[in-house]
Amino acid sequence: MKPLVVANWKMNPTSLRAAEALARRIAVGLGNVSGVEVAIAPPFPYLAVVGRVTRQRTVLAAQDAWAGASGAYTGAVSPLMLRDLGVRYVILGHSERRRFLGEDDGLINRKVKAALVARLIPIIAIGEEHRESQAVTPPVLAQQLARALDGIPRRRLRAIVIAYEPVWAISTTPGARPDSPDNATRRALYIRKLLVKLLGPSVADTIRVIYGGSATAKNASSFLATDIRGMEGLLIGGASLNAEECITIVQSIRKKVRGDKS
Ligand code: 13P
Repeated sequence: MKPLVVANWKMNPTSLRAAEALARRIAVGLGNVSGVEVAIAPPFPYLAVVGRVTRQRTVLAAQDAWAGASGAYTGAVSPLMLRDLGVRYVILGHSERRRFLGEDDGLINRKVKAALVARLIPIIAIGEEHRESQAVTPPVLAQQLARALDGIPRRRLRAIVIAYEPVWAISTTPGARPDSPDNATRRALYIRKLLVKLLGPSVADTIRVIYGGSATAKNASSFLATDIRGMEGLLIGGASLNAEECITIVQSIRKKVRGDKS
């Protein structure tokens, strides 16, 4: 399956001009990227301009969407509005929203449902808070996953994306360090097993599991396994704000999936 690289800009940059320049540098640097799908997730006010300057080279992702289509929800953004803007993916359940905005599994589940109705592809972020011994699989992963997908017909979940993003590995967490490639692969296999149990093998097979947490140009390709279905992409925060680094990450992944031939 084609790897997916998602550039999550979070609440950066703080001007339209800077957002446009960053998007343009990334798009120009990527050229006609093949073999890797690249999505840019800028803040809402920049989606239109990023879509315009990157056309065809990257796709748009939103950092959130509300749990309903329209109505009296001051400040919220409807998945239908995003779809209408040309957005393809929406990140839901990010740990920063769970932590800073109090989002819980129930709300995330409603958001997943609303995103699917609007024909957006959810990128559902799950991950444990603290780094425990890597021999122990944190029970929160199964819990967050099952609750996010609860009550949704299996067939609707084809081709969604699950992002394993341990909070302790996110670059802005004090003392953060990236997960080890081996552990990330173990987690990807575990999440895939959970997906098979929850959704059956044929739907699970269409779902990409990606990794997020201090991914940089130096370590990016090490998270992807080419011999087994481990991690099939990355959710990048800090490093995606630097166009050159972002481009190098995509190129290193392309090289890896081509078997280091090019
Ligand atoms: P960093 O890549 O800065 O660790 O952020 C990861 C993240 O939260 C992406 O959603």
